Amino acid sequence: MKIHDFKRKKEEQQKISMITCYDYPSACIVAESNIDCVLVGDSVAMAVHGHETTIMATMEMMILHTQAVARGLKQQFLISDLPFLCHKTSLAQTVENVKNLLQAGAHAVKIEGADADTCQTISYLVNSGVPVIGHIGLTPQSIHQLGGFRVQGKNQEQAEKLIQQALSLEAAGCFALVIECVPQQLAQTVTQSLTIPTIGIGAGSSTDGQVLVWHDMLGLQTDFNPKFVKRYAQGKEILLNALNAYAQQVQQMSFPTAEHSF
Ligand code: KIV
Repeated sequence: MKIHDFKRKKEEQQKISMITCYDYPSACIVAESNIDCVLVGDSVAMAVHGHETTIMATMEMMILHTQAVARGLKQQFLISDLPFLCHKTSLAQTVENVKNLLQAGAHAVKIEGADADTCQTISYLVNSGVPVIGHIGLTPQSIHQLGGFRVQGKNQEQAEKLIQQALSLEAAGCFALVIECVPQQLAQTVTQSLTIPTIGIGAGSSTDGQVLVWHDMLGLQTDFNPKFVKRYAQGKEILLNALNAYAQQVQQMSFPTAEHSF
């Protein structure tokens, strides 16, 4: 998957599959899969580091996890999140942050929000040769301003604002757009209004692609059960059973056997 394939897939009405990934062994598994593209999301702060919000993600975290994932991937397009406020300092510092993510192995960066400053920064980055994917709707970095993890764009005014944001991000040069937690109908309107693809999460089936968080879709954590998550495996149960089988066999001295001994 290369950058031009995003638009091509939209034109050919082929859906785009995206998954978050944070470490080398998981990336090696993704490398063998049919997944189109990978996001080292700032959700790493929650899914891997146990924080309550993505606000706790730092450049150091994003660089380290991007490097690990990049080492494991082969064909997939790799996107890395620019963490909280890391595009809101000086332009020089923003460029430095983006440079660090691309040098860590990302092919593109994702930036949340669509205010005028953000669009201007995106435009500068794109003109400098950096592929940028936008992120609108529920933008977790603004969680305290949004008042919690809740569906966005539910009334007419919010819906019109969201469509406007999408158009501004396309005009700024984004090659794709993540739309998080908005009504399906609105996501469809946005998708039809753009020439760039939309990747939805909690945005229904009309977007040009879907993204899910690794730990959610593999059932590795069971505390967080939003409506939009589908579990494709009972990961926690599989791992727990394996751990308990191992602990029991150690107790019972049925592991190691001659087979595992020198
Ligand atoms: O950080 C993340 O994982 C994300 C996806 C949920 C789109 O932004």
